[in-house]
Amino acid sequence: MNPYMARSLMRSLLHGQSCNRYISSSAIVRSAETLTVRHPSCYFFSVSHFRRSLSSVSSEAETALAEKDRKENSVSDSKEREIGAKEAGSVSVSSYWGVSRPKITREDGTVWPWNCFMPWDTYGADLTIDLSKHHVPKTFLDKVAFRTVKLLRIPTDVFFQRRYGCRAMMLETVAAVPGMVGGMLLHLRSLRKFQQSGGWIKALLEEAENERMHLMTMVELVHPKWYERLLVLTVQGVFFNAFFVLYILSPKLAHRVVGYLEEEAIHSYTEYLKDIESGAIENVPAPAIAIDYWRLSKDATLKDVVTVIRADEAHHRDVNHFASDIHFQGKELKEAPAPLGYH
Ligand SMILES: [Fe+2]
Ligand SMILES: [Fe+2]
Repeated sequence: MNPYMARSLMRSLLHGQSCNRYISSSAIVRSAETLTVRHPSCYFFSVSHFRRSLSSVSSEAETALAEKDRKENSVSDSKEREIGAKEAGSVSVSSYWGVSRPKITREDGTVWPWNCFMPWDTYGADLTIDLSKHHVPKTFLDKVAFRTVKLLRIPTDVFFQRRYGCRAMMLETVAAVPGMVGGMLLHLRSLRKFQQSGGWIKALLEEAENERMHLMTMVELVHPKWYERLLVLTVQGVFFNAFFVLYILSPKLAHRVVGYLEEEAIHSYTEYLKDIESGAIENVPAPAIAIDYWRLSKDATLKDVVTVIRADEAHHRDVNHFASDIHFQGKELKEAPAPLGYH
């Protein structure tokens, strides 16, 4: 029994406090001491907290005892941190929380170099997907969505012309927004209504993440200039809010708009591929992040990367037109199977 517990027990007996109080106090002390082994700042907090709760006990002996404990614990803590720092290779990393990533290797035994995605997030793109599918606009909302996307394409064509690398990078900063907004709103809806989402939250967030990986890949190939970064800030501010409002007002229109945006993305990447094949754009080696994410061969090139990204866009097209169709049938998304893992 440590000195705090002993004093607490004596006080309880003298003042007629219940046994439960004693157990409770000592549990606090015990948990505080457990913390002090690892973090001195917690120790100071726990000691001061302990003293506030036991204001009647304040002797010099106690102060000396606490000081001795503090020094001992500080020494053990610094030793522990030193060992942790050596293991982690950085003094800024603390093992206090017990959070660490196990060593992960590729199938060939080499160390997995990415923290932003894991081997189980990777996949081989389905290149057999039909790229020519098109949703013919029939209803009024379909036509609104189709015309809106065609209108949005005009300034994009004027600004980027045939600079497809730059165009793809900039458009991916926008393309990753709808999935996140849709997923977030479905998440909140699930909380509000105490209902399952049928997997659609995850499906839409997967789409957002996949689009973001397109961006992480493109940014390895094209380095944005300062005014392009400024444009992204402006466009994101406008587009996020506009899509957020649109999704609340009409999710079927929102998904239809995204479906048509994806059709345009397929068209843009097809033009990109044409320029690579003609030699207008150099077919450089694929970035390492792309090789791991899409499980490409080590000698993969930009052409391979654009080909798999285009296949992803075709999947997004299908998912969003499908989601819009579900709404057009007067149903909720959760009533239809969510296309989880559909890349
Ligand atoms: Fe994309
Ligand atoms: Fe997409």
